[in-house]
Amino acid sequence: MEKLLTDLGPVCAVIGAQWGDEGKGKVIDILAGHFDVIARACGGANAGHTIVVNAKKHVFHLLPAGSLHEGKSVVLGSGMVIHLPTLLEEIQTLEDAGIAIVDRLLISPAAHIVFAFHKQIDAAMELRLTKQQGKGIGTTKRGIGPAYMDKAARRGWRMEVLRLREADWRAGLQGHMADVAQSYDVTVNVDAEVEDLRRAQTKLKGCLMVSAPDMLRIFLDERKKILIEGAQATLLDIDHGTYPYVTSSSTTAAGALQGLGLPPKTLTSCIGVAKAYCTRVGEGDFLTEASGKTAERLRERGGEYGATTGRPRRCGWLSIPDLKHAATINGFDCWNITKLDVLDEERAIPVGVGMEKGKVIYEELPGWESSTSALTAFEDLPEQAKKYIRFIEEQTGIPVRLIGTGQGREEMIVRQNS
Ligand code: IMP
Repeated sequence: MEKLLTDLGPVCAVIGAQWGDEGKGKVIDILAGHFDVIARACGGANAGHTIVVNAKKHVFHLLPAGSLHEGKSVVLGSGMVIHLPTLLEEIQTLEDAGIAIVDRLLISPAAHIVFAFHKQIDAAMELRLTKQQGKGIGTTKRGIGPAYMDKAARRGWRMEVLRLREADWRAGLQGHMADVAQSYDVTVNVDAEVEDLRRAQTKLKGCLMVSAPDMLRIFLDERKKILIEGAQATLLDIDHGTYPYVTSSSTTAAGALQGLGLPPKTLTSCIGVAKAYCTRVGEGDFLTEASGKTAERLRERGGEYGATTGRPRRCGWLSIPDLKHAATINGFDCWNITKLDVLDEERAIPVGVGMEKGKVIYEELPGWESSTSALTAFEDLPEQAKKYIRFIEEQTGIPVRLIGTGQGREEMIVRQNS
């Protein structure tokens, strides 16, 4: 671990390489103890990390997975869209577990607020699309798109409004917010929105920074180590993903730096996280998608149901071109390949290595048909599993330094060198 930490340096980003749900929370959880600041940059409650600590599951949507580590500063960056009741609920969950958070939580005043009416608009837009073209985007219906729409239209509300008074909130919510909502046949429940703002104001007033970039600058000057927790993943990026079946934020390393207001050259490393196979929730191309019994097997073994929506995830095989695409954009220094043990029973493992005449070309690797569950040393992996990992390294030209072999925090192989 020491060698890995030295190699990662003081500012490390953990970024998903596929369509999300790669299991970033676990590597974050392992690394967080060695960093001082855990920062989330973009996205909102569409994310869902499940962390297992002492056999108990914790699911967070807004707070970064690293928040479980007491004493670490937690930053919610300017690129985020924050649903206030969800945030308050997560804070309560931590407090109920005896973990204090408010006094170490720093929220950018420039982050945007997701209101209840944004969630309703999200649902209305999905319905409209489905009526018009037979299917929607398959969003999480957490109001993410509509909140970013308001942000881009320069009429959104930022967390800084928590410094205002109730009369100001009412005026805004009854004014242009109501007009926008109306165009989607959605009514703004002003009293309920005001109540959410009031509760958040009481609880979070002390968390609002003067400026998130200035605060991060101070952390850097104090030689504090910053772990950036990516949300969603590269193939869902608004610019570089499988548009239009993407989320509405920038999910890459560069997007995270932008969302936080950290200068790009401060980043010392970037870990790409990819499952040993692949999943996707929502609509959109998934060229290496499996079908029938195979997909079902992967789903059941991998527990592939959405942490946020409970939807069954589409399951399939690793795609080397997709991994390379993600590596090109993010500049990964190493991989964390997660959930290797899910493939333990496969006789043969197809991996997408290219395309010909619109069809995926697969290379089939032999399975290991034995348990890798909970292994923590690379040497102990079955020979075919080692070959599978080496194949990913050779194909992408990037070393695999971390390999997940189970749900628990300890079930991870950390390699000093590949
Ligand atoms: P939205 O972000 O709710 O607008 O959803 C847009 C697309 O991104 C949908 O296909 C969602 O399923 C997907 N998505 C958003 N957040 C996540 C995530 O954290 N994991 C996996 N898929 C996500």
